[in-house]
Amino acid sequence: MEQGEQLCEAARSGDLDKLRALIDSGADVSYFDGEGLTPLMHAAKHGQAAVVKTLLDAGAPWNALSPSNLSAGDFAMEASNQEAYDILVNAGIQAELVLGTIVRRTNENGDFDGAYLEDRVTFSEDKLMDSDSKAVMMAWEKPLMEAHAKAVCSGGGHILNIGFGMGLVDTAIQQYAPVTHTIVEAHPEVYKRMLRTGWGDKDNVKIIFGRWQDVLSQLESYDGIFFDTYGEYYEDLREFHQHLPILLKPGGIYSFFNGLCGGNAFFHVVYCHLVSLELENLGYSTQLIPLPVKDCLGEEVWEGVKHKYWQLDTYFLPVCQSMQDSE
Ligand SMILES: C[S@@+](CC[C@H](N)C(=O)[O-])C[C@H]1O[C@@H](n2cnc3c(N)ncnc32)[C@H](O)[C@@H]1O
Repeated sequence: MEQGEQLCEAARSGDLDKLRALIDSGADVSYFDGEGLTPLMHAAKHGQAAVVKTLLDAGAPWNALSPSNLSAGDFAMEASNQEAYDILVNAGIQAELVLGTIVRRTNENGDFDGAYLEDRVTFSEDKLMDSDSKAVMMAWEKPLMEAHAKAVCSGGGHILNIGFGMGLVDTAIQQYAPVTHTIVEAHPEVYKRMLRTGWGDKDNVKIIFGRWQDVLSQLESYDGIFFDTYGEYYEDLREFHQHLPILLKPGGIYSFFNGLCGGNAFFHVVYCHLVSLELENLGYSTQLIPLPVKDCLGEEVWEGVKHKYWQLDTYFLPVCQSMQDSE
Protein backbone atom coordinates (compact mmCIF):
# COMPACT_ATOMS: atom_id res chain seq x y z
CA MET A 1 0.00 0.00 0.00
CA GLU A 2 1.34 3.41 -0.83
CA GLN A 3 2.43 5.65 2.08
CA GLY A 4 -0.44 8.13 1.70
CA GLU A 5 -2.99 5.33 1.99
CA GLN A 6 -1.15 3.98 5.02
CA LEU A 7 -1.33 7.44 6.61
CA CYS A 8 -5.09 7.55 6.03
CA GLU A 9 -5.47 4.13 7.59
CA ALA A 10 -3.35 5.01 10.63
CA ALA A 11 -5.37 8.25 10.97
CA ARG A 12 -8.66 6.35 10.96
CA SER A 13 -7.56 3.73 13.45
CA GLY A 14 -5.67 6.15 15.70
CA ASP A 15 -2.39 4.25 15.38
CA LEU A 16 -0.04 7.04 16.52
CA ASP A 17 3.18 5.00 16.37
CA LYS A 18 2.52 3.99 12.81
CA LEU A 19 1.53 7.55 11.92
CA ARG A 20 4.71 9.03 13.40
CA ALA A 21 6.88 6.43 11.67
CA LEU A 22 5.26 7.24 8.34
CA ILE A 23 5.68 10.97 8.86
CA ASP A 24 9.34 10.47 9.86
CA SER A 25 9.95 8.48 6.71
CA GLY A 26 8.63 11.39 4.62
CA ALA A 27 5.00 10.40 3.94
CA ASP A 28 2.98 13.27 2.46
CA VAL A 29 0.62 14.60 5.15
CA SER A 30 -1.36 16.53 2.54
CA TYR A 31 -2.13 13.38 0.55
CA PHE A 32 -5.63 13.08 -0.96
CA ASP A 33 -6.98 9.53 -1.25
CA GLY A 34 -9.23 8.18 -4.01
CA GLU A 35 -12.29 9.82 -2.41
CA GLY A 36 -10.52 13.17 -2.15
CA LEU A 37 -10.01 12.94 1.60
CA THR A 38 -6.81 13.77 3.51
CA PRO A 39 -5.44 11.87 6.55
CA LEU A 40 -6.54 14.85 8.67
CA MET A 41 -10.12 14.51 7.44
CA HIS A 42 -10.11 10.80 8.27
CA ALA A 43 -8.78 11.51 11.76
CA ALA A 44 -11.36 14.27 12.31
CA LYS A 45 -14.18 12.04 11.08
CA HIS A 46 -13.17 9.25 13.46
CA GLY A 47 -12.55 11.49 16.45
CA GLN A 48 -8.82 10.71 16.63
CA ALA A 49 -7.83 13.91 18.40
CA ALA A 50 -4.20 12.94 19.06
CA VAL A 51 -3.78 12.08 15.38
CA VAL A 52 -5.33 15.39 14.37
CA LYS A 53 -2.79 17.18 16.56
CA THR A 54 0.16 15.15 15.24
CA LEU A 55 -0.84 15.71 11.62
CA LEU A 56 -1.28 19.45 12.14
CA ASP A 57 2.11 19.64 13.87
CA ALA A 58 3.58 17.86 10.88
CA GLY A 59 2.19 20.53 8.55
CA ALA A 60 -1.09 18.98 7.36
CA PRO A 61 -3.25 21.78 5.90
CA TRP A 62 -6.20 22.46 8.24
CA ASN A 63 -8.21 24.05 5.42
CA ALA A 64 -7.95 21.43 2.64
CA LEU A 65 -11.34 20.72 1.10
CA SER A 66 -12.97 17.44 0.08
CA PRO A 67 -14.76 17.20 -3.29
CA SER A 68 -17.97 18.19 -1.47
CA ASN A 69 -16.27 21.27 -0.05
CA LEU A 70 -15.88 20.00 3.48
CA SER A 71 -12.79 20.55 5.59
CA ALA A 72 -11.46 18.37 8.41
CA GLY A 73 -13.24 20.70 10.85
CA ASP A 74 -16.56 20.13 9.07
CA PHE A 75 -16.08 16.38 9.44
CA ALA A 76 -15.29 16.74 13.16
CA MET A 77 -18.33 19.01 13.55
CA GLU A 78 -20.66 16.60 11.72
CA ALA A 79 -19.50 13.67 13.84
CA SER A 80 -19.63 15.73 17.08
CA ASN A 81 -15.98 14.97 17.80
CA GLN A 82 -15.49 17.87 20.16
CA GLU A 83 -11.82 17.40 21.01
CA ALA A 84 -10.72 17.06 17.40
CA TYR A 85 -12.99 19.98 16.50
CA ASP A 86 -11.47 22.25 19.15
CA ILE A 87 -7.94 21.43 18.01
CA LEU A 88 -8.91 22.25 14.42
CA VAL A 89 -10.62 25.53 15.36
CA ASN A 90 -7.48 26.61 17.20
CA ALA A 91 -5.25 25.55 14.32
CA GLY A 92 -7.47 27.55 11.95
CA ILE A 93 -7.36 30.66 14.11
CA GLN A 94 -3.59 30.48 14.52
CA ALA A 95 -3.04 29.96 10.80
CA GLU A 96 -5.40 32.76 9.77
CA LEU A 97 -3.89 35.16 12.30
CA VAL A 98 -0.53 34.67 10.65
CA LEU A 99 -1.33 33.92 7.04
CA GLY A 100 -4.92 34.84 6.20
CA THR A 101 -4.95 31.86 3.82
CA ILE A 102 -8.70 31.66 3.30
CA VAL A 103 -9.02 35.33 2.55
CA ARG A 104 -6.17 35.21 0.06
CA ARG A 105 -7.56 32.17 -1.65
CA THR A 106 -10.95 33.84 -2.02
CA ASN A 107 -9.19 36.69 -3.75
CA GLU A 108 -7.28 34.44 -6.12
CA ASN A 109 -10.54 32.80 -7.15
CA GLY A 110 -11.43 36.22 -8.47
CA ASP A 111 -14.34 36.76 -6.12
CA PHE A 112 -13.47 40.43 -6.20
CA ASP A 113 -11.48 42.07 -8.92
CA GLY A 114 -10.99 45.35 -7.11
CA ALA A 115 -12.78 47.31 -9.82
CA TYR A 116 -16.28 47.11 -8.35
CA LEU A 117 -16.54 50.81 -7.66
CA GLU A 118 -15.85 51.65 -11.31
CA ASP A 119 -18.27 49.07 -12.69
CA ARG A 120 -21.94 49.42 -13.49
CA VAL A 121 -24.46 48.04 -11.02
CA THR A 122 -28.01 46.87 -11.68
CA PHE A 123 -30.93 47.38 -9.34
CA SER A 124 -33.99 45.16 -9.24
CA GLU A 125 -36.65 44.69 -6.61
CA ASP A 126 -34.88 41.86 -4.83
CA LYS A 127 -31.22 42.51 -5.49
CA LEU A 128 -28.40 44.84 -6.39
CA MET A 129 -25.93 43.18 -8.77
CA ASP A 130 -22.45 44.05 -9.94
CA SER A 131 -21.37 43.86 -13.58
CA ASP A 132 -20.24 40.25 -13.08
CA SER A 133 -23.68 38.99 -11.95
CA LYS A 134 -22.54 38.77 -8.36
CA ALA A 135 -24.96 40.06 -5.77
CA VAL A 136 -23.89 43.19 -3.92
CA MET A 137 -27.00 43.00 -1.74
CA MET A 138 -30.13 40.85 -1.68
CA ALA A 139 -33.59 41.34 -0.23
CA TRP A 140 -33.49 38.06 1.74
CA GLU A 141 -31.18 39.87 4.13
CA LYS A 142 -33.92 42.31 5.16
CA PRO A 143 -34.69 40.61 8.52
CA LEU A 144 -30.98 40.51 9.27
CA MET A 145 -30.60 44.19 8.46
CA GLU A 146 -33.57 44.99 10.71
CA ALA A 147 -31.90 43.08 13.53
CA HIS A 148 -28.62 44.94 12.94
CA ALA A 149 -30.47 48.27 12.98
CA LYS A 150 -32.20 47.36 16.25
CA ALA A 151 -28.83 46.50 17.80
CA VAL A 152 -26.98 49.64 16.73
CA CYS A 153 -29.92 51.93 17.52
CA SER A 154 -30.55 50.49 20.97
CA GLY A 155 -29.02 53.53 22.68
CA GLY A 156 -30.50 56.10 20.24
CA GLY A 157 -28.35 59.13 19.49
CA HIS A 158 -26.05 59.42 16.51
CA ILE A 159 -25.82 56.52 14.07
CA LEU A 160 -23.29 55.74 11.32
CA ASN A 161 -23.81 53.24 8.52
CA ILE A 162 -21.07 52.33 6.06
CA GLY A 163 -22.47 51.00 2.75
CA PHE A 164 -26.01 51.89 1.58
CA GLY A 165 -26.62 49.04 -0.91
CA MET A 166 -30.38 48.63 -1.13
CA GLY A 167 -30.94 50.89 1.86
CA LEU A 168 -32.42 48.07 3.92
CA VAL A 169 -30.49 48.77 7.08
CA ASP A 170 -30.88 52.53 6.64
CA THR A 171 -34.65 52.21 6.23
CA ALA A 172 -34.71 50.20 9.45
CA ILE A 173 -32.44 52.72 11.22
CA GLN A 174 -34.85 55.52 10.26
CA GLN A 175 -37.62 53.72 12.17
CA TYR A 176 -35.68 54.45 15.35
CA ALA A 177 -35.59 58.20 14.57
CA PRO A 178 -31.93 58.74 15.45
CA VAL A 179 -30.76 62.28 16.24
CA THR A 180 -28.40 62.05 13.25
CA HIS A 181 -27.97 59.26 10.71
CA THR A 182 -24.78 59.39 8.67
CA ILE A 183 -24.42 57.15 5.63
CA VAL A 184 -21.14 56.58 3.78
CA GLU A 185 -21.49 55.22 0.25
CA ALA A 186 -18.76 54.90 -2.36
CA HIS A 187 -20.48 53.71 -5.53
CA PRO A 188 -21.53 56.61 -7.80
CA GLU A 189 -24.67 54.86 -9.06
CA VAL A 190 -25.78 53.78 -5.61
CA TYR A 191 -25.18 57.34 -4.45
CA LYS A 192 -27.22 58.80 -7.33
CA ARG A 193 -30.06 56.43 -6.53
CA MET A 194 -29.96 57.50 -2.88
CA LEU A 195 -30.46 61.11 -3.96
CA ARG A 196 -33.18 60.16 -6.46
CA THR A 197 -35.12 58.31 -3.79
CA GLY A 198 -35.06 61.22 -1.35
CA TRP A 199 -32.39 60.15 1.11
CA GLY A 200 -30.66 63.50 0.72
CA ASP A 201 -33.82 65.34 1.85
CA LYS A 202 -34.29 63.66 5.21
CA ASP A 203 -33.67 66.05 8.12
CA ASN A 204 -31.54 63.76 10.21
CA VAL A 205 -29.62 62.12 7.34
CA LYS A 206 -26.15 63.14 6.24
CA ILE A 207 -24.77 61.35 3.20
CA ILE A 208 -21.03 61.21 2.68
CA PHE A 209 -20.06 60.08 -0.80
CA GLY A 210 -16.74 58.27 -0.99
CA ARG A 211 -14.86 55.24 0.25
CA TRP A 212 -14.91 55.08 4.04
CA GLN A 213 -11.11 54.90 3.92
CA ASP A 214 -11.05 58.30 2.17
CA VAL A 215 -13.67 60.12 4.22
CA LEU A 216 -12.60 59.23 7.76
CA SER A 217 -11.70 62.86 8.47
CA GLN A 218 -15.36 63.83 7.84
CA LEU A 219 -16.65 61.38 10.41
CA GLU A 220 -17.37 62.17 14.05
CA SER A 221 -18.12 59.78 16.88
CA TYR A 222 -21.31 57.76 17.11
CA ASP A 223 -23.57 55.85 19.49
CA GLY A 224 -24.21 53.12 16.95
CA ILE A 225 -22.16 51.98 13.94
CA PHE A 226 -22.94 49.41 11.27
CA PHE A 227 -20.43 48.27 8.63
CA ASP A 228 -21.38 46.39 5.45
CA THR A 229 -19.35 47.09 2.33
CA TYR A 230 -18.82 45.06 -0.84
CA GLY A 231 -15.81 44.19 -2.94
CA GLU A 232 -13.53 44.48 0.07
CA TYR A 233 -11.50 41.94 2.01
CA TYR A 234 -11.23 40.80 5.58
CA GLU A 235 -8.19 43.09 5.86
CA ASP A 236 -10.45 46.09 5.17
CA LEU A 237 -12.84 45.11 7.95
CA ARG A 238 -9.85 44.63 10.23
CA GLU A 239 -8.59 48.08 9.23
CA PHE A 240 -11.98 49.61 9.93
CA HIS A 241 -11.87 48.11 13.41
CA GLN A 242 -8.67 50.00 14.13
CA HIS A 243 -10.72 53.23 13.90
CA LEU A 244 -13.43 52.13 16.33
CA PRO A 245 -11.79 53.73 19.38
CA ILE A 246 -12.26 57.11 17.68
CA LEU A 247 -15.55 56.45 15.88
CA LEU A 248 -17.52 54.74 18.64
CA LYS A 249 -18.64 56.76 21.67
CA PRO A 250 -18.33 55.26 25.15
CA GLY A 251 -21.39 53.06 25.64
CA GLY A 252 -21.87 52.76 21.86
CA ILE A 253 -22.74 49.62 19.92
CA TYR A 254 -20.91 48.40 16.84
CA SER A 255 -22.08 45.70 14.43
CA PHE A 256 -21.08 44.48 10.98
CA PHE A 257 -22.45 42.17 8.32
CA ASN A 258 -21.05 38.81 9.34
CA GLY A 259 -20.74 37.09 5.99
CA LEU A 260 -17.23 35.89 6.71
CA CYS A 261 -16.65 32.60 4.86
CA GLY A 262 -20.41 32.19 4.49
CA GLY A 263 -19.96 29.23 2.15
CA ASN A 264 -18.40 26.85 4.67
CA ALA A 265 -19.70 26.18 8.17
CA PHE A 266 -16.32 25.42 9.74
CA PHE A 267 -14.41 28.29 8.12
CA HIS A 268 -17.21 30.56 9.30
CA VAL A 269 -16.72 29.38 12.89
CA VAL A 270 -12.99 30.03 12.60
CA TYR A 271 -13.61 33.54 11.28
CA CYS A 272 -16.22 34.32 13.95
CA HIS A 273 -13.58 33.41 16.56
CA LEU A 274 -10.87 35.32 14.73
CA VAL A 275 -12.82 38.55 14.39
CA SER A 276 -13.97 38.35 18.03
CA LEU A 277 -10.38 37.82 19.13
CA GLU A 278 -9.13 40.74 17.09
CA LEU A 279 -11.88 42.99 18.44
CA GLU A 280 -11.05 41.83 21.96
CA ASN A 281 -7.45 42.90 21.41
CA LEU A 282 -8.82 46.35 20.58
CA GLY A 283 -10.88 46.39 23.78
CA TYR A 284 -14.28 45.27 22.47
CA SER A 285 -16.42 42.35 23.53
CA THR A 286 -18.42 40.58 20.81
CA GLN A 287 -21.67 38.78 21.36
CA LEU A 288 -22.78 36.61 18.44
CA ILE A 289 -26.56 36.34 18.35
CA PRO A 290 -27.80 33.32 16.36
CA LEU A 291 -30.57 34.04 13.86
CA PRO A 292 -32.03 31.20 11.77
CA VAL A 293 -31.99 32.06 8.07
CA LYS A 294 -32.86 28.75 6.44
CA ASP A 295 -36.50 29.71 5.88
CA CYS A 296 -35.77 32.91 3.95
CA LEU A 297 -33.24 31.21 1.69
CA GLY A 298 -34.83 28.89 -0.86
CA GLU A 299 -32.81 27.83 -3.91
CA GLU A 300 -34.87 30.21 -6.09
CA VAL A 301 -33.35 33.17 -4.22
CA TRP A 302 -30.06 32.55 -5.98
CA GLU A 303 -31.42 32.30 -9.53
CA GLY A 304 -29.20 34.34 -11.85
CA VAL A 305 -26.68 35.03 -9.09
CA LYS A 306 -23.15 33.89 -9.83
CA HIS A 307 -21.76 33.52 -6.35
CA LYS A 308 -23.81 32.03 -3.53
CA TYR A 309 -22.19 34.06 -0.78
CA TRP A 310 -24.22 32.53 2.04
CA GLN A 311 -24.97 28.82 2.43
CA LEU A 312 -25.40 28.32 6.16
CA ASP A 313 -28.57 27.83 8.21
CA THR A 314 -27.74 30.23 11.03
CA TYR A 315 -26.52 33.81 10.88
CA PHE A 316 -24.48 35.08 13.82
CA LEU A 317 -25.20 38.75 14.37
CA PRO A 318 -22.29 40.47 16.09
CA VAL A 319 -22.98 43.00 18.83
CA CYS A 320 -19.77 44.69 19.96
CA GLN A 321 -19.22 47.02 22.89
CA SER A 322 -16.22 48.51 24.58
CA MET A 323 -15.15 46.25 27.44
CA GLN A 324 -14.73 49.39 29.56
CA ASP A 325 -18.52 49.91 29.32
CA SER A 326 -19.23 46.69 31.15
CA GLU A 327 -16.67 47.31 33.90
C1 LIG B 1 -23.72 44.90 0.81
S1 LIG B 1 -24.07 46.52 0.33
C2 LIG B 1 -24.76 47.21 1.79
C3 LIG B 1 -26.14 46.75 2.02
C4 LIG B 1 -26.87 47.53 3.11
N1 LIG B 1 -26.42 47.12 4.41
C5 LIG B 1 -28.34 47.36 3.00
O1 LIG B 1 -28.98 47.15 4.04
O2 LIG B 1 -28.90 47.41 1.90
C6 LIG B 1 -22.50 47.25 0.28
C7 LIG B 1 -22.48 48.70 -0.10
O3 LIG B 1 -21.18 49.24 0.26
C8 LIG B 1 -20.74 50.09 -0.77
N2 LIG B 1 -19.28 50.17 -0.66
C9 LIG B 1 -18.35 49.31 -1.16
N3 LIG B 1 -17.12 49.68 -0.79
C10 LIG B 1 -17.25 50.77 -0.03
C11 LIG B 1 -16.33 51.61 0.66
N4 LIG B 1 -15.02 51.37 0.65
N5 LIG B 1 -16.81 52.66 1.35
C12 LIG B 1 -18.15 52.92 1.38
N6 LIG B 1 -19.07 52.17 0.75
C13 LIG B 1 -18.64 51.11 0.06
C14 LIG B 1 -21.26 49.43 -2.02
O4 LIG B 1 -21.32 50.32 -3.10
C15 LIG B 1 -22.63 48.95 -1.58
O5 LIG B 1 -23.60 49.92 -1.80
